[in-house]
Amino acid sequence: MYPDLAGKTVVITGAATGIGQAIALRFGQEKANVVINYHSNHDGVEETIAKIKEAGGQAIDVQGDMSNEEDAQRIVQTAHDTFGSMDIMINNAGMENEVPSHELSLDDWNKVINVNLTGAFLGSREALRYMLKHQIKGNIINMSSVHEIIPWPHFVHYTASKGGVKMMTQTLAMEYAPHGIRVNGIAPGAINTPINAEKFEDPEKKEAVTKLIPMGYIGEPEEIAAVAVWLASSEASYVTGITLFADGGMTKYPSFQGGNG
Ligand code: BGC
Repeated sequence: MYPDLAGKTVVITGAATGIGQAIALRFGQEKANVVINYHSNHDGVEETIAKIKEAGGQAIDVQGDMSNEEDAQRIVQTAHDTFGSMDIMINNAGMENEVPSHELSLDDWNKVINVNLTGAFLGSREALRYMLKHQIKGNIINMSSVHEIIPWPHFVHYTASKGGVKMMTQTLAMEYAPHGIRVNGIAPGAINTPINAEKFEDPEKKEAVTKLIPMGYIGEPEEIAAVAVWLASSEASYVTGITLFADGGMTKYPSFQGGNG
């Protein structure tokens, strides 16, 4: 538990399902005020809100597209209007689809860049404006991926967006450190979430992915939520500009496992 998170207001984008939902619930258990943003899928939101309230936190949901400037502004404003503050922004909303790069349409490229990178930028920008105006030494967490460093054929829009998130995180961390605002990233590996459901339902594909993970299992959303609350808490007060990899070792060259090489 991180007692300093109690009563803090956190906005989590794309929090209807998966990692975002687990983060929302965990902040609720820390007794924070949780603003759950969702785009089109509302399934699971009511259940998460009920669980947060049961755990002693407070929660509301706000529909909105983070890659839309007005929506991003409205979401931060709603946090302020409801809870009187906004201390932590978690830019989690993301999407991916598999397409060989020479067949990738401009439309698909734009969609993924808009949600994963532009959405994280707008969420960060609105959070920074709010924190500067209200002199809040808050923090921002951007959801990246192991693919901020691992190339991934058929996912060039996704890898480009996450590489962008990595440098955006580092740049904002440096720029706003003098104001006491911390900006960090989290890079999950393969996690059991709806984004991956189809892939992991296929035993062959699941095995192929698991082979890439030295720890030998696909991670759970709660294992990502656990690092999010730590990064957001005062226990991480001197941590800014990092990407925290929570990937079971996926980024450690698993093909060398067993002493190959
Ligand atoms: C992607 C997953 C993928 C994992 C490891 C994540 O960023 O969302 O689909 O399984 O990286 O490759």
